[in-house]
Amino acid sequence: MEITITEHYDEMSKVSARLIAQEIHRKHDIVLGLATGDTPVGTYQELVRIHKEEGLDFSKVKSFNLDEYLGLAPVHKNSYNYFMWENLFKHVNINPENVYIPQGNIKDPEQFCVWYEEQIKKAGGIDLQVLGIGRDGHIGFNEPGSSFASRTRVKALFKQTIEDNARFFDKEEDVPRFAITMGVGTIMEAKKILLIANGKNKADVCAQFIEGPVTSQITATSLQLHNYANVILDNEAASKLKRIEYYNWVRDNKHLVQKEVGR
Ligand code: F6R
Repeated sequence: MEITITEHYDEMSKVSARLIAQEIHRKHDIVLGLATGDTPVGTYQELVRIHKEEGLDFSKVKSFNLDEYLGLAPVHKNSYNYFMWENLFKHVNINPENVYIPQGNIKDPEQFCVWYEEQIKKAGGIDLQVLGIGRDGHIGFNEPGSSFASRTRVKALFKQTIEDNARFFDKEEDVPRFAITMGVGTIMEAKKILLIANGKNKADVCAQFIEGPVTSQITATSLQLHNYANVILDNEAASKLKRIEYYNWVRDNKHLVQKEVGR
């Protein structure tokens, strides 16, 4: 895992958007895996700016969202479908036919999950998966105990997740109890992973998933087993890490690798 610690939320957003933009430049028909929530809002705003001011082209980009609340129609203002269109898709030149988001109000969720996995496969797999992290360590909605082999499926939300996400709803009772989510196994098959996190309330879980033991109780620890995972944190989310100096040294001295190789 490569750990980049940034000064604040804005810098975290800019650095992560730049990384995504570079990947889109490198492969115009890239397959992105995308997350919702508070964390990536700034990243998406910055991507919109890069699209508008620098011409970043989304016309061939395909995207698959991680998850959606079960029971919410795509037009519901708390649905992740609504979030993605409001925060990113409607501001860039993505082809709506290339946008895949789990459908919360689908009649047969089980069959839908199989279909969703097939579409990811048909697209050639996910090139770059963007992730946030829940305070319980979830990636997607892979709550504590989710198998590292899990695929897209319906998952019951953990109590802490329901409490955390209540801020988006009028009252806690309105938060759906289930979601459709890509599995840990689905996420781990992405060629590259980018996890972003900010704020004091993510400091404990960031220390646990980066420096703690691998466990399905904190599904983000699975990223320790991925061969290309980038983690970009703000100062607060990084504040409980033990090896900050080392991560910063690596970030600032990458250029030395070339020198060493040339010796
Ligand atoms: C959302 C998702 C979740 C969030 C996580 C953090 O699509 O998959 O794992 O990334 O719950 O949410 P925020 O960013 O709101 O703290």
